[in-house]
Amino acid sequence: MPNNKEIKKVTTHVLLEMKKRGEKIAMLTAYDFTMAKIIDSSGVDVVLVGDSASNVMAGHETTLPITLDQMIYHAGSVVRATSRALVVVDLPFGSYQANSKEALSSAIRIMKESGAHAIKLEGGREVKESIERILTAGIPVMGHLGLTPQSIYKFGTYSVRAKEVDEAERLIEDAKLLEQYGCFALVLEKIPANLATKVAQCISIPVIGIGAGSGVDGQVLVTHDMLGMTNEFNPRFLRRYLNLYESMNSAFKQYIVDVKNKDFPNKKEQY
Ligand code: KIV
Repeated sequence: MPNNKEIKKVTTHVLLEMKKRGEKIAMLTAYDFTMAKIIDSSGVDVVLVGDSASNVMAGHETTLPITLDQMIYHAGSVVRATSRALVVVDLPFGSYQANSKEALSSAIRIMKESGAHAIKLEGGREVKESIERILTAGIPVMGHLGLTPQSIYKFGTYSVRAKEVDEAERLIEDAKLLEQYGCFALVLEKIPANLATKVAQCISIPVIGIGAGSGVDGQVLVTHDMLGMTNEFNPRFLRRYLNLYESMNSAFKQYIVDVKNKDFPNKKEQY
């Protein structure tokens, strides 16, 4: 099996092989062409068109308002920029919970209209029928357990999930069920590291964590957070690789100064 850099195109099969040989999977979010192009050329394995676009792109407080049409718009932009990474797209809130028929038609629209490679949806046993139906159409499904932001009004807070034994046991059962239903991978969000490690060890599909410690098969972060473009969100799990908020802010300020002082454009910058 070739290593990460030799892989021409990442497929669900490649991710499974990476887990088998212990190579960690790197996943980041993207919602637009320009960002996705930079991310893909860096060698990231999976690009997630997350419904976090609802917060990051549209400024909503939760992920609930984003629509299927909006997700398809973001996904199409990301797919056009991507030549290597696997592109996974979130089914937005309300596009799959009512029944499995609606789930399948939402997933088909995403695949057909954006050209994405797989979909992701939140939940365990309660979305069994939807997962199975989507899979019958040959569409790969990524699961998502732990903190599931589409259920924020049920939980009430964004705090760490599955700290109690009952919830932890249920999460392990759900992870096993998602594997049985046929999911190709699973995201675990904001749960204790020990529990996440246990899940990754007891199922054969890749487990990708966000706030789930280092014992899982890969990591995902929201790109705008890890680049430091957002500066109000500071969870413990977030590592910032840049402080783009500051850099961009000072670039904009310098531009304003240059315009006001008639320093921009200079002679070389005009026709
Ligand atoms: O929407 C999203 O960005 C996500 C990740 C946080 C996993 O689901």
